Amino acid sequence: MLILGIESSCDETAASVVKDHRQILSSVISTQIEEHKKYGGVVPEIASRRHCENILGVTRKALSDAGVTLADIDAVAVTYAPGLIGALLVGVNFAKALAMAAGKPLVPVHHIAGHIATNYLTHPGLEPPYLCLVASGGHSHIIEVLDYTHFHVVGRTRDDAAGECFDKCARAMGFPYPGGVHVDNAAQTGDPKAFRLPHPAVAGNEFDFSFSGLKTAVINMLHHAEQKGETIDRNDLSASLQATISQILTEKTMLAAQALGYKKIALAGGVSANSGVRSTLAAACEKRGYEFFMPEKKLCGDNGAMIACQGSYNFDAGIFADESLNAIATLSMDEI
Ligand code: KG4
Ligand code: ZN
Repeated sequence: MLILGIESSCDETAASVVKDHRQILSSVISTQIEEHKKYGGVVPEIASRRHCENILGVTRKALSDAGVTLADIDAVAVTYAPGLIGALLVGVNFAKALAMAAGKPLVPVHHIAGHIATNYLTHPGLEPPYLCLVASGGHSHIIEVLDYTHFHVVGRTRDDAAGECFDKCARAMGFPYPGGVHVDNAAQTGDPKAFRLPHPAVAGNEFDFSFSGLKTAVINMLHHAEQKGETIDRNDLSASLQATISQILTEKTMLAAQALGYKKIALAGGVSANSGVRSTLAAACEKRGYEFFMPEKKLCGDNGAMIACQGSYNFDAGIFADESLNAIATLSMDEI
C-alpha cells in the first residue's frame, strides 16, 4: 500500500510517500522558520501564503523522490485538524482536488495522531495499546493509544503547551524563534540546579499540566535581573528550565502509567526532540521496568511521513472523507 501524506497545519509544508504503513519512500519538508523568525513567531497569514506557493512543488518532489506517480498511490492522506485554520485549509483543499482529479480515496488525519505515528516509523515492532506523552508547540497531552485509530486523552495542559513554554522563555532569554532547540543547546553546558523553578500545581485532574506559571516565573526572573542591571547565565537558566519541564512531563506520565496500568510508554511531538525530555522519560521508564519508545530526531517535528503513516492505518480502518472535508482549528483527539 502506498499513501501520499500532506501536512500544512503550521509553518512546514510537507509531503511524503509511505509504503506498507512504516516504510518511508520520500519525505519533503519546506520550512518557513527563517521568514517567521523576523516576527518572533508564526504569522498565520504569511504561513498560508507560503503553503499555497509551495504545496504543489513539495508534493511533486515527494512523488518523484519516491520514484512513483500519482497513479501508483492508493490514497491521499491530509492533516485536517488541529492547527492554524488558514494553513490547514491550503493542505485540505489541495488534497481534496488531488484525490478527486486522480480518482483516489481521501483520508483525513488528526495532526496529533500523526505525531504519535512517528513511533511506528521508528520502531517496526511497536503496536498499541500503550500510553503516549505528546508535547509540541501547541499541545501537551497524555494519551491512551487504544488501537491504531482510537485514542483517549487522560491529561492535557490547562494553559500553555510545553513547547510554548520553551519558546516564550527562550524569547525572553534573547534566543531566536523557535527557541526550544536553542534552550536545549544552551542547557548542555549549564547547571540544571542553578535556579529553583516552580512546578505549578494543578487542581482537579492529577494528569493535567500547567506551564504558564513556570513561563511567568522565568520571564519575571529575567526582567527583575535586567532592572537591577544584573545578568543571568543563559546556559544555567536553560538547563534549569529544561530540567523542570522534563520533570513535570515525566512525573505526570509516570503517574498516569501507574494509575492506568500501562507498562509501554511512548513520546511524540516537536518537544520529543528535546534531549532532557528524552533522557528523563527514558530513565524513569527504565527504573520502573517499562518499555519506552521515542521517534528518531528527524521525525519529531512536523512532517508528511507521520501523516502518511497514520493515514495508512486510517485507510485500514475505513476512515475516509469526501469533498465536504473541512479544516478544523481545534479538535480534541477524543472527538475523532
Ligand atoms: O510538533 P511541532 O513541530 O509543531 C506543533 O505541532 O506545534 O512542535 C514545535 C515545538 C516548538 O515549540 C519547538 O520549540 C519545540 O517543538 N522543539 C523543541 C526542540 N525542538 C523543537 N523544544 C525543546 N527542545 C528541542 N530540542
Ligand atoms: Zn506538530
